[in-house]
Amino acid sequence: MVKKTLMCPKCKSKIVLEGKPGEKSYISCPNCNTKGMFTFPKGKSDIKTTDNSFVIKVRNLTKSFNNFKAVDNVSFNVGNGEIFGFLGPNGAGKTTTIKAMLDLIHSNSGEIKINGLDITKKGKEVKKYVGYLPERVAFYDNLTALQNLNFYAEMKNASKENCKPLIEEFGLGDAISKKVGKFSKGMVQRLGMARAVLGNPPILILDEPSGGLDPRGVVLIRNKILEMRDKGSTIFISSHILSEIQAVCDRVGIINKGILVAEDTVSQLSKRLNIKPKLSIELEEMSDAIKEAVKKVDGIDDVQIINKIINVICESKLKAKVVIAIANAGGNIINVHTTEPSLEEVFMRFTEVEQ
Ligand SMILES: Nc1ncnc2c1ncn2[C@@H]1O[C@H](COP(=O)(O)OP(=O)(O)OP(=O)(O)O)[C@@H](O)[C@H]1O
Ligand SMILES: [Mg+2]
Repeated sequence: MVKKTLMCPKCKSKIVLEGKPGEKSYISCPNCNTKGMFTFPKGKSDIKTTDNSFVIKVRNLTKSFNNFKAVDNVSFNVGNGEIFGFLGPNGAGKTTTIKAMLDLIHSNSGEIKINGLDITKKGKEVKKYVGYLPERVAFYDNLTALQNLNFYAEMKNASKENCKPLIEEFGLGDAISKKVGKFSKGMVQRLGMARAVLGNPPILILDEPSGGLDPRGVVLIRNKILEMRDKGSTIFISSHILSEIQAVCDRVGIINKGILVAEDTVSQLSKRLNIKPKLSIELEEMSDAIKEAVKKVDGIDDVQIINKIINVICESKLKAKVVIAIANAGGNIINVHTTEPSLEEVFMRFTEVEQ
């Protein structure tokens, strides 16, 4: 059995449903009595991937526009079931890389394999595996949300039955019969995500999924990304919202001026840059003896004291020593909090602008 929490499109109340993957369930909102139907997603992606090692392989990709190298000799891999964040400042080459990955533009050199297939030779087949959210989402303006999604479901050979529940899931239940030409930017983005996940594709490529979304929309997309990963999809996301990327991605790639400058987990990149965690310790009372004891702990980088809070920058392995030093100096600890190095610090350091 699968448990699913939905939001009533009319009164926004939470509705909890239980059912089997693929099963249809009729819903009646306990609050406002609005009726609807929900189909539980199938347990795993409808189409299986065949290459278990790397689902996306990009080797020495170069793309120039006239004489300008937008992407310069970029290589990276994305493993099966991984969420990979692709980051970089405006104009760094993210969208160009993504378009080359989907054979929407022709690269000058390099090789791209998706699910073991060369994108330039097997582009049509590859697109069957991929759900894509472009940077600029476009629909048929004269068709309604449901007509648009039905159309794409037919093109993707996905079940049309899922279109209505998907539109509702993305918070567009009230606008299901509205023409997309009258949608706001955030509404188009939500519908774009619904189109990308149609048919539970095993590979998702999302170019700025949070673009134009309100905070509720951002959470909705984040949860959907995690749900797709749990179902077995491999997900490639380009984004500027670093906290979002840090929250969901297993690994990140950072591109700057067309060059891939880093590719690893956030914690490994932090280690490489020697960015250390911050330990904040709140005490019942502060004393000079405690301050001195903390400053004497061997190996710590920095100590700041604000009223009854001590902030220490140090390697994770020294945290216990700091706590013991405070306790030995008679300190009574109320709260201990560690802030791990943020992706923002990593990003800023790898994309520093030369003066
Ligand atoms: N069709 C094109 N013709 C000429 N130059 C282009 C074209 N498409 C992209 N570029 C240039 O290539 C560079 C990379 O653009 P790209 O759209 O890949 O950046 P991005 O990393 O996606 O940026 P953003 O975060 O703003 O979306 C930019 O300098 C851009 O002006
Ligand atoms: Mg872009």
